[in-house]
Amino acid sequence: MHRAPTDLLALATRDMPLPPGGGLVFVRVGGGLAFDLPEVIRRCAPRRQATFAAGRMAARDALRKAGHGGEPVPGIGGDGLPDWPAGWLGSISHSDDIAAALVAPDSGAQLLGLDVERIVTPEVAAQIAPEVMSGLSLGRSGQPPELEVTRTFSAKEALYKALYPLTRQFRDFSAARVGWKRAGPGDPCRVRLTLTEDWGMDWPAGTTFEAVQRIAAGHVATILWR
Ligand SMILES: CC(C)(COP(=O)(O)OP(=O)(O)OC[C@H]1O[C@@H](n2cnc3c(N)ncnc32)[C@H](O)[C@@H]1OP(=O)(O)O)[C@@H](O)C(=O)NCCC(=O)NCCS
Repeated sequence: MHRAPTDLLALATRDMPLPPGGGLVFVRVGGGLAFDLPEVIRRCAPRRQATFAAGRMAARDALRKAGHGGEPVPGIGGDGLPDWPAGWLGSISHSDDIAAALVAPDSGAQLLGLDVERIVTPEVAAQIAPEVMSGLSLGRSGQPPELEVTRTFSAKEALYKALYPLTRQFRDFSAARVGWKRAGPGDPCRVRLTLTEDWGMDWPAGTTFEAVQRIAAGHVATILWR
């Protein structure tokens, strides 16, 4: 039976440990639009309009799933961050085909980040590995290079997206390193991230985070929260 990529990702992530009261939703890019696009997005290329719209539909559905009563579509806040309802945290991610949103009440989490990435080709993996892996050699995890690079990239982006709303500071890919917690059949896909430099006063070098990943429909989905 043919399943849509969004259904495959929803299935693969259904046992992911979400923040208390959290909701995670995947939607197809290019589906219907149930709200007016902001003026700044209406001036963008059709592809950007489509990914923005799908991300906002995922956000609205995730808020609904998590029990937020108002079912709002978040606007655009400072630094391009979504303008989440008071008392809520959230994160949006989109590839060309899939958008996703993770939300939770701020009573259950201090920070959260979501990233969804299409798995890169081996050629792209070789090109981007030096930057993404920050000089560490490929193959330490025993995974195919394209998966190791995509998982590393996605974990670092989820970390950045979780911390940026608190720190408001840019950090490049050398600012954290990943460690693989386990691999093999039944792999829970846990990744440990360690900051290699201070990300502000509250987040000194050496601070560790754990991200959880799932692989489905040619994508890696990463969530990170605490
Ligand atoms: C900001 C960034 C992480 C977005 O990642 P991406 O893979 O391009 O895009 P995604 O689809 O996953 O996420 C885009 C969404 O993230 C949100 N977003 C944008 N900037 C953000 C930020 N600084 N922090 C958190 N979320 C952000 C927005 O909701 C955006 O979607 P929208 O514009 O439609 O609302 C990326 O562009 C970036 O700057 N990366 C470099 C920094 C980094 O990752 N460092 C690694 C440190 S170890």
